[in-house]
Amino acid sequence: LAAPLIDPFLRPITYLRVSVTDRCDFRCQYCMAEAMTFLPKAEILSLEELDRLCSAFVALGLKRLRLTGGEPLVRRGLMDLLRSLSRHLRSGALDEITMTTNGSQLARFAGEMAAAGIRRVNVSLDTLDPDDFRRITRRGELGPVLDGIRAAQAAGIAVKLNAVALKGINEEQILPLVAFAHGRGMDITFIETMPMGDIDGDRTDHYLPLSAVRERIASRYAMTPSGHRTGGPARYVAVAETGRRIGFITPMSHNFCESCNRVRLTCTGTLYLCLGQDDAADLRAVLRGGATDDELQAAIRAAIARKPKGHDFIIDRPGAAPAVARHMNTTGG
Ligand code: GTP
Ligand code: 5AD
Ligand code: SF4
Repeated sequence: LAAPLIDPFLRPITYLRVSVTDRCDFRCQYCMAEAMTFLPKAEILSLEELDRLCSAFVALGLKRLRLTGGEPLVRRGLMDLLRSLSRHLRSGALDEITMTTNGSQLARFAGEMAAAGIRRVNVSLDTLDPDDFRRITRRGELGPVLDGIRAAQAAGIAVKLNAVALKGINEEQILPLVAFAHGRGMDITFIETMPMGDIDGDRTDHYLPLSAVRERIASRYAMTPSGHRTGGPARYVAVAETGRRIGFITPMSHNFCESCNRVRLTCTGTLYLCLGQDDAADLRAVLRGGATDDELQAAIRAAIARKPKGHDFIIDRPGAAPAVARHMNTTGG
């Protein structure tokens, strides 16, 4: 068996996030610019190429795979890729395949996803107000997302909600979102907005440290620390009144890079070694250059050997520039 992937800071790399498309049917304010240009088709890996790259990571000891986008469910043929990758679940090599989605197409695909072995998904939902939802997503509709959440649950998939905390935009929605999630048997995670890409407007205005979110929740609920971990960066609390959990992802106020276990593959085969750094490896060139499986694995190892210590995001200073120029949709968070 191949030696496991370990980075220069002795962190085992067991988690790959794969952005299967840069496209999305929404244009969330914190994720994309209003006018986005998307990649031409020739740049994008085929489903077979994506499968081959993911499988090379599995051969190197990968344990979890998460499909992201853009919006993963707008990629044509995604269910075929999922069904193919699910062989690694059946063999016991992978512990889980998950997805992070905006939920808009979930009603259509939930059944197939469950059949392919998806046990949980994270759905991004920042507000329950239909007008605010349209404002934040610029072109999304709340109704289909709520339908998608119901369909996923009906198919037996555990849904967790993700809400980006935005000052002056969804602060009033924090308690309603917790009540909604916990009332329907879902955990919910709040996320600090990260400064990525050239997004219209001044993002420092909308940064809300999660200490403020926590205070608001404490006014209504009793929270106790929970040791629950999902392999992601969230720290969880348990809520006595509801019996469910709330997660906090605090890249800005409490750095968690020390325990990083992940790298990110884009739909063009670029392997980003950190969400907040530019350094990357072009695995598509290796793949299309006719590499053998061994050569592909060697290229992955060489990239992991360059993984940086952490991000350099700064947001709580007026005029702070984005640390990386690429938009969030390149890697899907
Ligand atoms: P779970 O497996 O359910 O814990 O999911 P997750 O939190 O790993 O993934 P998800 O796709 O739901 O991501 C939620 C948020 O966490 C997104 O805003 C991501 O950008 C952020 N996030 C995930 N991984 C990292 C990371 O390595 N670094 C930073 N800075 N943020 C991350
Ligand atoms: N900062 C923090 N989270 C973000 N997401 C998208 N853009 C940003 C950002 N700038 C979130 C989405 C989704 C997850 C994958 O990343 O809301 O839940
Ligand atoms: Fe890991 Fe980079 Fe994320 Fe830090 S910012 S947790 S090092 S990917």
